[in-house]
Amino acid sequence: MSTKSKYYITTPIYYVNDKPHIGHAYTTIAADVLARWHRLKGDEVFFLTGTDEHGAKVEESAKKAGKSPLELCDENSEKFKKTFESLNLSFDYFIRTTDQRHKEAVAKFMQKLWENGDIYEGTYEGLYCTGCENFLTEKELVNGKCPIHLTVPEKITEKNYFFKLKKYLPQVKELIEKDEIKIRPEDKKKETLGLFQQGLEDFSVSRERVKWGIPLPFDQSQVTYVWVEALQNYVSAIGYGDNEKEFKKWWIEADVLHLMAKDILKFHCIYWPALLLAAGEKPPKELFLHGFFTINGQKMSKSLGNVIDPNEMVKKYGADATRYLLLSQFPFGQDGDIKAEKFDEQYNAYLANGIGNLVSRVANLIEQGGGQLNKKLKTSDLIFKEVSRHLEKLEFTEAIAVFESEINNLDYKLQKEKPWEKAVNDENRLKFLQETAGTILAIANAIEPFMPETGAAIQKKFLASKITKGQPLFPRMQK
Ligand code: ME8
Ligand code: MG
Repeated sequence: MSTKSKYYITTPIYYVNDKPHIGHAYTTIAADVLARWHRLKGDEVFFLTGTDEHGAKVEESAKKAGKSPLELCDENSEKFKKTFESLNLSFDYFIRTTDQRHKEAVAKFMQKLWENGDIYEGTYEGLYCTGCENFLTEKELVNGKCPIHLTVPEKITEKNYFFKLKKYLPQVKELIEKDEIKIRPEDKKKETLGLFQQGLEDFSVSRERVKWGIPLPFDQSQVTYVWVEALQNYVSAIGYGDNEKEFKKWWIEADVLHLMAKDILKFHCIYWPALLLAAGEKPPKELFLHGFFTINGQKMSKSLGNVIDPNEMVKKYGADATRYLLLSQFPFGQDGDIKAEKFDEQYNAYLANGIGNLVSRVANLIEQGGGQLNKKLKTSDLIFKEVSRHLEKLEFTEAIAVFESEINNLDYKLQKEKPWEKAVNDENRLKFLQETAGTILAIANAIEPFMPETGAAIQKKFLASKITKGQPLFPRMQK
């Protein structure tokens, strides 16, 4: 096992123009699995998530809802936090970009860029997509529309401050090529390097017309461009500009991993490292960009009415099963499709009839013999090691396949051995149950990062002074 180290993991901070959906849950569950796995290995972990609250998009949504921007932010940010808690996500800090601490850190960061001479005044003319909170080029449009939000961008001309991105591009490119900024999976590293080929321009870091934002410290009439300040959450949350010790611990000494989907690659893989270099800070050590999923082949969207609320899933299946159902659908780095009508079937097959049934059967057999095992349970960490080998590479579905095949294997052995046909004090039966319980305990340890309640419940059951069948872990879903 690797030596104890510091691990800093982040998710994107999510827009609060609407309530959370399973896309937000997906990334944050993945981050939670990694955070819990690192804690199990004995590492010191800081797991950050939160909400992105400024900008035109939130301003407009609030207006439509007849609320002040902050009212909408308070409401929706709370929904994200509650949803993440109900999914049993073990974040250490939930940042809001409307937090005073964040605003102060951003002012310091922007002042630094200004003093270093990396910001200049100019006029911006371009096509703005509020959904993306970004300017799009003509060639990025499909039929005149933003390919992600399917809306026509607005033509904007305004006085802005610009960041000298071009000055930092060669350095950022070299760091990525040398894996000093490690971008995974490999195809996302290639995609990033491809963007340098296409040519990148200095970008504006302020908005004249938007009011809902953090004022620039050197020109209070403009607010900081929402993307620029949102990225800074990764350092403001750990004490940038106000707690040197904490900042050094998590930004300089820790293994930093930014997790997100590929939709926000350019901001994270190019703009963010460049901004950090300009501010005289270390670029992030590693970024992992997972795939984007559709629902039955279609983009998840309000207008299509196919948005899935993670809270509905938790109500129906419980937190552990929801975590499992979302993470097990398709390989993490790839795009995928989610067929929600399959959830019941998958829940029954893999959880109710899988781990749930196995635990019940074995506990029941032991209970029939008095609930005691002959010897203290021995567990091996081989399964945990095998799962770890995959988690190291963020191969969640492969890691899940490891414990699933262990479960199948035990089911098979049980069917072959038929311990229920032997007397409760039969030597072979006792030996078999002893071994099987040991393997179940090892599985429980390895699944804990994925399904924390289940992992803990199984360990409690088999380590109790009297083992009993008890209630099923995953009651079957009825058709
Ligand atoms: O972009 N498949 O916030 P956002 C997979 N505020 N992941 C998905 C998904 C899907 N269909 N839909 C959403 C923003 N996600 C900015 C980020 S960070 C400094 C600022 C997840 O609310 C995925 O992690 O649009 C994606 O990157 C993120 O939600 C976008 O969330
Ligand atoms: Mg988005």
